[in-house]
Amino acid sequence: MTIKQLQSTILDLKSKNDVTILAHYYQPIEIQEIADHIGDSLGLSRIAKEKTNTEYIIFAGVRFMAETASILNQERHVLIPNPESCCPMAKFLTPEKVLEFKKRYPNNPIIVYVNSTADVKAEADICCTSSNCVEITKYMINKHHCDSVLFGPDANLADYVEQISGIKTIKMPEKGHCIVHSQLTQGDIKGMKAKHPKAKILVHPECKREVRELADIVGSTAHMYKYVESNLNNITEYIIGTELGLLERLKIDFPGNKYTLANEKMICYNMKKHSLELIEYLLNHLDDKNFEVKVPNETAKRALKPIEEMLRH
Ligand code: 13P
Ligand code: SF4
Repeated sequence: MTIKQLQSTILDLKSKNDVTILAHYYQPIEIQEIADHIGDSLGLSRIAKEKTNTEYIIFAGVRFMAETASILNQERHVLIPNPESCCPMAKFLTPEKVLEFKKRYPNNPIIVYVNSTADVKAEADICCTSSNCVEITKYMINKHHCDSVLFGPDANLADYVEQISGIKTIKMPEKGHCIVHSQLTQGDIKGMKAKHPKAKILVHPECKREVRELADIVGSTAHMYKYVESNLNNITEYIIGTELGLLERLKIDFPGNKYTLANEKMICYNMKKHSLELIEYLLNHLDDKNFEVKVPNETAKRALKPIEEMLRH
């Protein structure tokens, strides 16, 4: 079967079942094409909470994203096409580690990046994404009348917050990082600038400070998308310092521009573990429990609070 035939089978099955398909910007483009909604992690959480009313949600993203959708929709079935699609960053932080930090710094609020497991979120005061991390940190400082926050698991994102807001972040752990974004080097950016002097350089805040400092824009995937969308008349060339999937989306939506990946290794293999074949299988086996993402009730109840606290902002 060709990709187009498989996509048409999927769309047909979707129309006959009570299903919504959500896909992150990092998904292979053929999956983005059959999704009901595409977005960054904050956007997809909001859609999962506010716009999804089907009995089933198929979430093409890494596990923590599907877990968040499930926590926000405990009455619905959230399915993940490949249950092995996990974000390695989430493994940098365990609930035990968070509790240790809590003991050492009892007066500092705990901010947990959504790229974390549900049982880590359950120990947090609030969650954040790369779209709202600065805003959320400022909010917590005002609310708790303190001058620093506990922040994990991404030490680069914590450092970005610190750089932009001037608020100290105590990193949980000291060196948590994304294996995709942290491989981008100053040398890569300098090389790209030399080859493409007119291009604007967009990088994700999960990149290291020395890389962020060479970029024109630092922002989440949705932020980068909006930046390109709002500069159609004056910018025509971009270096993309995030995962390949976003570049593919931009190429389709804004084909008049030229895009180059900042480093050709910026592919998140975990995001790419899903496929059209797996989605087709799921649509034919919606009740196959092997693919359902279900957070135990007690953990889900506790993790819901910091997620909802984030979504209120
Ligand atoms: P966004 O919040 O920008 O979608 O990023 C999620 C992510 O996993 C980045 O690596
Ligand atoms: Fe996790 Fe990095 Fe992949 Fe994002 S790109 S899902 S942070 S490993």
